[in-house]
Amino acid sequence: MKFFVDTADTAAIRELNDLGMVDGVTTNPSLILKSGRDIIEVTKEICDIVEGPVSAEVVAKDAAEMIREGKHLAEIAKNITVKVPLTWDGLKACKALSSEGHMVNVTLCFSAAQAILAAKAGATFISPFIGRLDDINLDGMQLIEDIRTIYDNYDFRTEILAASIRSVNHITDAARVGADVITAPPAVIKSMVNHVLTDKGLAQFDADWAKTGQKIG
Ligand code: E4P
Repeated sequence: MKFFVDTADTAAIRELNDLGMVDGVTTNPSLILKSGRDIIEVTKEICDIVEGPVSAEVVAKDAAEMIREGKHLAEIAKNITVKVPLTWDGLKACKALSSEGHMVNVTLCFSAAQAILAAKAGATFISPFIGRLDDINLDGMQLIEDIRTIYDNYDFRTEILAASIRSVNHITDAARVGADVITAPPAVIKSMVNHVLTDKGLAQFDADWAKTGQKIG
């Protein structure tokens, strides 16, 4: 399973990348806003840190303008993945950009039907949003599972990029049902290390070690 980091925070990306935890990065207009930085400048910095795909999102609504913006973003670095929304125009832009050899991430996917269209349009990645479906009491993980089944049935090569991840369980469940990639905020990835029994076990070992009176080295 590949790990993408869902952030435009370059310090957080660097920290995880140094540990070999980062296979790619996803950004969106809200994350660019949160960074407080210029989209081109911050995206370039991210591409300099990370070797894998870095998603940068277009904001236009019509296909021609999306393609223009996508090509502009793709000039930033060779590992740019152009992110387009799952609209009819987004699919047109996906087809055009992928036909020219660009990686394309089709985002804001909330149904299996949408995921089929994205695969047909040549998407490199499809981004189903788990958390936002759960927010409205729908089953985000079921969507990942459904897309996995459908893509496998027809050997679609589009990679399933499980997005809108809010918890460690989202990550392990997405891994269990066969998502190719997860993208999660740095804090969620870091919290994967936590376990109450690890803390308890370490405290016990510390206490017992102190009683031995020994030192290592
Ligand atoms: C994916 O590419 C999106 O940037 C992201 O996962 C959205 O997550 P959110 O629903 O927590 O905003």
